Amino acid sequence: MKMERCMNKRVILLWWYIMVFQLCFILGAYSENFSFRRNLKKFDNVESSRANSPVTLNNQNSEKVVISNGIISITLSNPEGYVRGLSYAGIDNVLDARNEENDRGYFDITSGKLTQRVDGTNFTVITHKENIVEVSFLRTWRSSMDASNVPINMDQRYILRSGDSGFYSYVIFERPKGFPGVTIHQIRTVYKLNEARFNYMAISDTRQRKMPSNRDRETGQQLAYPEAVQLRNPSNPEFKGEVDDKYQYSSENQYNQVNGWITAESEKPVGFWIITPSNEFRNGGPVKQDLTSHVGPICLSMFVSTHYAGKQVAIEFKEGEDYKKVFGPIFIYLNSASSNDQFKSLWSDAKQKLSNEVKNWPYDFPQSKDFIPSNQRGTLQGNLKVQDGMNASQNAYNAYIGLALPGPAGSWQIEGKGYQFWTRSDKNGNFIIKNIVPGAYNLFAWVPGFIGDYTYNVDITIKPGSTINLNSLIYNPPRNGPTLWEIGIPDRSAAEFFVPNPYPNLINKLYINKPMDKFRNYGLWNRYTDLYPENDLVYRIGISNYQKDWFFAHVPRIIGNKTYQATTWNVTFKLSNVLNGNYTLQLALASASYGEVQVWFNNMSDDPPYFTTNRIGGDSVIPRHGIHGLYWLFSIQVPRVHLVKGDNTLHLRQSRSGSTFEGVLYDYIRLESPPTTKLNL
Ligand SMILES: *[C@@H]1O[C@H](CO)[C@@H](O)[C@H](O)[C@H]1NC(C)=O
Ligand SMILES: *[C@@H]1O[C@H](CO)[C@@H](O)[C@H](O)[C@H]1NC(C)=O
Ligand SMILES: *[C@@H]1O[C@H](CO)[C@@H](O)[C@H](O)[C@H]1NC(C)=O
Ligand SMILES: *[C@@H]1O[C@H](CO)[C@@H](O)[C@H](O)[C@H]1NC(C)=O
Ligand SMILES: *[C@@H]1O[C@H](CO)[C@@H](O)[C@H](O)[C@H]1NC(C)=O
Ligand SMILES: *[C@@H]1O[C@H](CO)[C@@H](O)[C@H](O)[C@H]1NC(C)=O
Repeated sequence: MKMERCMNKRVILLWWYIMVFQLCFILGAYSENFSFRRNLKKFDNVESSRANSPVTLNNQNSEKVVISNGIISITLSNPEGYVRGLSYAGIDNVLDARNEENDRGYFDITSGKLTQRVDGTNFTVITHKENIVEVSFLRTWRSSMDASNVPINMDQRYILRSGDSGFYSYVIFERPKGFPGVTIHQIRTVYKLNEARFNYMAISDTRQRKMPSNRDRETGQQLAYPEAVQLRNPSNPEFKGEVDDKYQYSSENQYNQVNGWITAESEKPVGFWIITPSNEFRNGGPVKQDLTSHVGPICLSMFVSTHYAGKQVAIEFKEGEDYKKVFGPIFIYLNSASSNDQFKSLWSDAKQKLSNEVKNWPYDFPQSKDFIPSNQRGTLQGNLKVQDGMNASQNAYNAYIGLALPGPAGSWQIEGKGYQFWTRSDKNGNFIIKNIVPGAYNLFAWVPGFIGDYTYNVDITIKPGSTINLNSLIYNPPRNGPTLWEIGIPDRSAAEFFVPNPYPNLINKLYINKPMDKFRNYGLWNRYTDLYPENDLVYRIGISNYQKDWFFAHVPRIIGNKTYQATTWNVTFKLSNVLNGNYTLQLALASASYGEVQVWFNNMSDDPPYFTTNRIGGDSVIPRHGIHGLYWLFSIQVPRVHLVKGDNTLHLRQSRSGSTFEGVLYDYIRLESPPTTKLNL
């Protein structure tokens, strides 16, 4: 402990560094971190000699296992398998050694209100060769265990190879037949870094910043919920008045493959990164959003969560249901720069490392037979076209195409039990999905620019080493007739609508002058009431512009102290005549959180309304600064008697107003004429 405190002091001058080092040297004799001296010496030696250093494993001590390769040294608790120490580049522990040893680097799993560390009971050396060590920390569930133990067998693995500036870890979850039922809400890996050193966070090219500290949050003012804090007394005055909220740093799975921290103030900056080379084991598909890094300094890779989706995505195991899945491996990467002004290069280097890891996926070195190597995986390829109504078919450009466990169209977005494999089609609609774990799947797709979900009509069974060619597939998006009018772009996001400026006193400086990220600001939901204090939004087809006139979230009006009012948005449009047959209202939502959209045409006295979505969703996208959650599509038949020649109004009432966060985000709205004869074929 003492040693850790002294190491936490910022080391600015070399002589100071040496003095601290000497002190640590003395204290270190009492400490578990004695290995620091050895590692530091190695670090000072010639760089190239380390690339060939053999991997050493020391498990003589019954409480810890130390694995080193001359570049990094990992200390794991025995038999639990927590990462309690990680030394690199002369830093004894990049993790927060003030925390308990089970609270620095670990996997955990959440079932309802219970969050449990993945903690092993049996340590095993899986392999120990000169160039690679793999160890296992296994916990086997038994019915005699108390209720705080999730009924899943968990095998945590750590791999260190010679020459690597980082290590791999993965966890295998298994339920043999006969285990009790359980519902899983979250599975993730967490690293808590040394706060005195890591102060600069990077999650994308444009989203990186110097971050406030835990203490800055503690001395701040909580806003509408505990995660959102306004910094009142930050140690660095430049953060004063800013909002900090971990949900401002979320990303879609497809863009959430490397995130981490840099010691931006050190003379020789060090970076710590979690690299997630594949999304195959994550839930909810490529556009599911999740947390990345945030104040702590904390670095996460989320494997399964309900964030931006709600309880609908929880994984339910029935009593007796057998199961096995490998989460990972992920790569914990460390890098360093030779001078302070180079610190941003650590982000570029981490991205480069990610692309190398992606190239090497699936890895050929994990020893678990449950991790399927490349030559035992399958490939699926084909071509997707879209035929929308009577229009000629066109290539599905940039479509999201993926395999997930069999289920109805669109079910992939709430699926988390199995693996998912996604790709994007090219401009000709061609796609290829490689490295698919053998098994039975459905092929799913959705195409930006078109509504609805594609699913292939039969299950697809992937066999080891096989390639399936589906040739030409055609997606017919829902459409009953020609478009009369439309609002927005069918892309499952509300980003194209009007996103207001944040309150000047509630900003996150990271998002100043970043129009694409404006939605990540705190408090935008309150802006509806500012813009529409008495009368609700009216959208005039042919006159209004959805980028300016369609507020991105249909939320209640705030009328007082915790009092809210349902709001009705009117869409006015003209019909030159009313045709025989049914019109169709295509109502696509990008998010719903305990909201309800009620629909009337021209007369709101009907009770119940002509159509209602009913109360739906729980993705909490509004307080979590998302621009979409789960996708919902309602195709509503509108018999001609509801419409008139001349002026018509569509009324959309978001009837739920229990809180400011009950509402929906629209993706796209379209009114179609009745089917024409040809379409009736
Ligand atoms: C775990 O270790 C204990 C004690 O060594 C042993 O009795 C038990 O069989 C082991 N369990 C597994 C699943 O390996
Ligand atoms: C054909 O496509 C155009 C735009 O691409 C659209 O406006 C029109 O409604 C479509 N017609 C039908 C019948 O699908
Ligand atoms: C929307 O339509 C309803 C029903 O006709 C009407 O009462 C309301 O005033 C309209 N809203 C606005 C802002 O015009
Ligand atoms: C809000 O209501 C609560 C309880 O009725 C009351 O104590 C509080 O003073 C009110 N706040 C404001 C700003 O009116
Ligand atoms: C609206 O509907 C109600 C109930 O169906 C009806 O009594 C009323 O006359 C209608 N109003 C108009 C303006 O059509
Ligand atoms: C028109 O819509 C009504 C109301 O949904 C439905 O009952 C009827 O079957 C539809 N008619 C046709 C031809 O689809």
